[in-house]
Amino acid sequence: MLGNFSYHIPTKLYFGDDSLKYLNDELPKYGSNVQLVYGGGSIKKNGIYDDVMKILKDNGKNVIEDGGVMPNPTIEKLREGVRIAKKNNVDLLLAVGGGSCCDYAKAVSVSAHCDEDPWQKYYVRFEEPDCEIIPVGCILTMVGTGSEMNGGAVITNHEAKRKLGHIFGPEVMPKFSILNPVYTMTLPREQMVSGIYDIFCHICEQYFSGEDDNTSDYISEGLMRSVIHSSLIALDHPEDYEARSNLMWTATWALNTLIAKGKTTDWMTHMIGQSVGALTNATHGMTLSAVVLAYYRVILPNGLPKFKRFAEEVWGISAEGKTDEQVANEGLAALEDWMKKLGVTMHLSELGVTEDMFGDIINGTRNLRGGYKRLTRDDLVQILTESL
Ligand code: NZQ
Ligand code: ZN
Repeated sequence: MLGNFSYHIPTKLYFGDDSLKYLNDELPKYGSNVQLVYGGGSIKKNGIYDDVMKILKDNGKNVIEDGGVMPNPTIEKLREGVRIAKKNNVDLLLAVGGGSCCDYAKAVSVSAHCDEDPWQKYYVRFEEPDCEIIPVGCILTMVGTGSEMNGGAVITNHEAKRKLGHIFGPEVMPKFSILNPVYTMTLPREQMVSGIYDIFCHICEQYFSGEDDNTSDYISEGLMRSVIHSSLIALDHPEDYEARSNLMWTATWALNTLIAKGKTTDWMTHMIGQSVGALTNATHGMTLSAVVLAYYRVILPNGLPKFKRFAEEVWGISAEGKTDEQVANEGLAALEDWMKKLGVTMHLSELGVTEDMFGDIINGTRNLRGGYKRLTRDDLVQILTESL
């Protein structure tokens, strides 16, 4: 049952190989102080930094640089970003990068005018913002997280051994995002495939919940088929614009709340993966790919009809003459084959995980209730052991 809901995504998207020019339309809406958020330097190598800077200068902006946002942004970096925003009376946070830069900009946006420590307020007590929020805009260079059109802001606290996300509401979502598929073509292959698996996993996290007849599931199946199709083209031809643009668009729709409508949603692959990430600092998509198959094998008996539907509708497996379990397992085998083709991480040991880390990983895993099975500690030990 879809139930009752309101649906509001205020992010204006500009998509295509000429989309950067629309930054000229957006900048006049904001005051002059722009905090330019970027990562470890990829945008300086590929020229995006120069193009963005020129438009900022042409529009008379006072640019405050905030580079060095690391993959899996830390609480220490967030506190630094808050200091920069406060000191410079920032009017707009402009993130140029992947999910890490976009997430970080949103986290700064809700913290700069707030006297409390952001970790305590947003990642321990999970409170909603009650202070002025600085507007955020994104220029996306890495595809996967959906951060360009959602309220998610994932922050890592290595000292506390936690990597946690706060899902903020529409008031925190980017005001605008610029999506140019050409920008993603300089991504290293490892990041490209990690992002592709992240997209797919986001769709699965919403799909594998509930059993009713729900429009969201039909949309999800279409999105999953599109990711599989385009990924196989992008693997052989990374510069194929059609494939890269389809992946970029699918990533946005995979996690902008549309396909969560009417769903309880699962998210346990992410909860385990993020806990692994807190301890290893591994690439986000790889922390998911390393644990997902073991997790699905544990929950498959509880969600058998949906795993069977996944096999038939997403992977085209025929059910003729087979038991439901056989069909469902063939679906997981097809998923595994595709993941191996992509070249994503299939084992936790490849990320530096050892058995003596299991306790910390389990303690850092938020145990959610929306999926087919509420996991026990024994289930988690089994998943980690089989994923190792
Ligand atoms: O830092 P630079 O030098 O820019 O290099 C980055 C980084 O090393 C590089 N890169 C990005 N665009 C590039 C490029 N290199 C060459 N050419 C380009 N065009 O790629 C590396 C990874 O970037 P990052 O932003 O960290 O990746 P991603 O987009 O996967 O973001 C990961 C973060 O997002 C969070 C993750 O947990 C992680 O912290 N997530 C956010 C979500 C949300 N907002 O809803 C949901 C996701 O599930 C996820 O948890
Ligand atoms: Zn993800």
